[in-house]
Formats: sequence, C-alpha cells, structure tokens
Amino acid sequence: MVDPILDIEGLTTRFFTGEGQINAVSDVDLTINPGETVGVVGESGSGKSVTALSIMDLVEDPGKITAGTVRYRNPEFAASIAERHPDAVDGDYVDLLAVPKHVRRSLRGTSFSMIFQDPESSFNPSITVGEQIAEAVEVQRRATTRPRSVSARSTRPEYRFSDFLLSTVFPSRGYVSESSKQEAISLLEQVGIPDPEERVGQYPHEFSGGMLQRAMVAQALAGEPDVLIADEPTTALDVTIQAQVLELLNDLQAEFGMSILLITHDLGVVARMCERVGVMYAGKIVERGTVSDIFDTPAHPYTEGLIGSIPDIDTPGGNRLQPIAGNVPSLLDSEMGTRCAFADRCPKAMQRCLDEPSELDASGSQSHTAQCYLVSDGYAEEEALPAGYFESSGGDS
Ligand SMILES: Nc1ncnc2c1ncn2[C@@H]1O[C@H](COP(=O)(O)OP(=O)(O)OP(=O)(O)O)[C@@H](O)[C@H]1O
Ligand code: SF4
Ligand SMILES: [Mg+2]
Repeated sequence: MVDPILDIEGLTTRFFTGEGQINAVSDVDLTINPGETVGVVGESGSGKSVTALSIMDLVEDPGKITAGTVRYRNPEFAASIAERHPDAVDGDYVDLLAVPKHVRRSLRGTSFSMIFQDPESSFNPSITVGEQIAEAVEVQRRATTRPRSVSARSTRPEYRFSDFLLSTVFPSRGYVSESSKQEAISLLEQVGIPDPEERVGQYPHEFSGGMLQRAMVAQALAGEPDVLIADEPTTALDVTIQAQVLELLNDLQAEFGMSILLITHDLGVVARMCERVGVMYAGKIVERGTVSDIFDTPAHPYTEGLIGSIPDIDTPGGNRLQPIAGNVPSLLDSEMGTRCAFADRCPKAMQRCLDEPSELDASGSQSHTAQCYLVSDGYAEEEALPAGYFESSGGDS
C-alpha cells in the first residue's frame, strides 16, 4: 500500500464571531496519495474552502484551527526539523499543525499550492501577471537551497548569492531575475496562453476570466508543488473553457506527478477528474469512497440527493439542475444541535437520527464509509419522524 503524501485527521476549524461560534469544519479526515486526485464535493457553505484554507494555514481571524493533525510526508523536510521540533515529526511525516507558523509557511508555494476560488481577487491588479508568476518561480528557486517538495524536479538555475543581494536591495516586491521571467513565459505557454511573450507584460484586467484562471494554474505550478489544492478551479468559466482547464490539470498532473485536492460543488467534475471523493455537509465529510462507490452505490441520502441533482442531458427538458429540497443548515454552534445535520432534509429521517451517527462502514471495505444510520441498521419505517417534525420542534432536536 502507498503511504499518503498528506494525511489529515480530525481537522476542526471554528470562527469566533459576534453572533457566536461557527462550526465551519468539524473532525475532517482526508488522505491523498502521491499522484492522486481526491475530490471534496458539497453545497455552498458546507466548509470546502475553509478545509482548503486550513490545510494551507490561511485561515484568518476570527477563524482558528482548534483540533486535528495535518501530516505531510517528506523525509528530507522531516529530518531537517526533527531536532528542533521533535514532537511534530513521526518518521517521514511532519504534523504541520505542530510546527511554528513560519516553518509551515515556508512550504507554501513550494510543497503546497492553491488555486483560489476567485482568480480576480487573488492577483494583484497593479502588477503584471508575468511578474506575479515570476515571483512564484523565484520563491521556488530560493527554496531549492533547503529541503523542499518531495517531487522537486526543477532544472531551473540555482538561486545565487548575487540574487540574494539584489533581493535585499529591492525588498518591496522581491527581486525577480531574468531567468524567472523567462520561466514565467514558459509556464504561460504550458497552460495554453497564446502569445505568452506579449501576455507576460499585461495586467490582470487585460486577461479574460478563462485566461486568468489558466494564469493562476501557471502561478500555482511555478513552485512545483507536491500537492495542488484547486478550489472550484472552473466555476466561473463557460463549459468549453471549463473542459479545457480540467484537461490542462490532468495533463500537468500526468507530467509532474503532483497530487490534487479538487474542491467543487459539481459532481460531473468529480466523475471526470477524481479517484476518490469526500462528500461534505455542514462541515463534515458525511460519505467517502472511490468515485464508483459514490456514483454507483451512494449510501448517504445527501449524496443520493446530489447525484439526483445532476442534470440529465439525455432527457428532453431534463437538463435543469434539481436542487435538494430544504436549506443548507446553519453552522452556528448554538443552532446546530446534536442530531444528524441532514435530518430536516432527509426523506428517511428516523427517531435514532436525533443522535448524530458516527462514520460507518458502507460496503465492508472500510474505504467506503458514511455517517448515516441507514448504513448500519437500514430504514425502520415505524421509527420515521412525522412530516413537519422539524418545523414544529423549531428546527432542532
Ligand atoms: N471569515 C469568516 N468568518 C465567519 N464565518 C466564515 C468565514 N469564512 C467562512 N465562514 C463560514 O464557514 C462556513 C463554511 O464556508 P466555506 O467558505 O468553507 O463554504 P464552501 O463549502 O467553500 O462554500 P462555497 O461552495 O459557496 O464556496 C460557512 O458557514 C461560512 O459562512
Ligand atoms: S442519519 Fe438519519 S437523518 Fe441522517 S442522513 Fe441518515 S437516515 Fe437521514
Ligand atoms: Mg468555497
């Protein structure tokens, strides 16, 4: 069996707001193997982006990671910090939540990269796209002088002492060498941007949405990461460009062997791209399995609902997305209660569902699990909650 490159256990992130505590991510387990694409799918507000930001250590105030481990396998990195941070190191693994922030952040862009949900806001509007990509290349070059990503494959010129001196003379934006600029052009070319020599000198507003998304892929790849986290990388794009960007990610993964955590609300994208998938609801992974487990034998009613919401393009008039009835639940701690969070939308909610289920084996393989009593006990009609139960009980157990 392959050892995962990333092994996340019990990841829990809260926002401590004026309105109260928001349970954005609760007890999330995820593993990603080398070269694998793992999907996280769920409706808006289910905690997908906060999960990604937690892995990248980009959760901002009033958010806080309150529990869990994010173990990254990199023997060289583990050896380099073992003496200073023995509690964080376990063999080839480093628990990124147990090292100081500056150590963790040194991996950003080189071991882990992220494609953000909104490309417009993740590029600085006053710096050319090329310069921003070149800066990411520069970060990777500097990192070659210390232990970095397992899959580092760079043949880029080393970061020399003269480069260091220049970078201290121009500290405001970081010095970008000529070779990094050339690399930016080559990256723009790799992601299929026409006339990269000309495009490299343009500003973000001169790029179309699709082009900017591609440029963001180029920027994320500049660091030659082990793990690429792609948060809704194609949502804002029209169908043709969407297909092209997904194809591009597939090709680049085949070439570079990186792992991808793909976040989306679109099961069609999951089917096309992923080997395994976690279905997220109200901050938890409520079902996990291979793509065929999830599509062929879904165990959780929420997953069934999501699959039922995929437009059927073969049926005349059937290409409208069917939303799942009911509303996405509040994640305010005071309103969540202790029941299954899907109970008020679930067609099979039973008395026992007023106590939240834990993760249960859905098909005897341990690799397909669901947090739902139907998996362990089946449906007991005599236990069904009466229609309107949650309206009359104020929406809580
Ligand atoms: N800065 C913040 N302050 C307070 N609450 C936040 C903050 N960021 C996220 N949340 C809350 O965390 C929960 C999960 O949000 P998240 O952005 O992860 O959802 P998502 O699954 O990515 O949704 P979408 O599909 O719309 O991108 C939501 O209830 C959201 O309101
Ligand atoms: S635990 Fe109960 S309410 Fe929750 S999804 Fe399963 S059957 Fe429905
Ligand atoms: Mg999101």
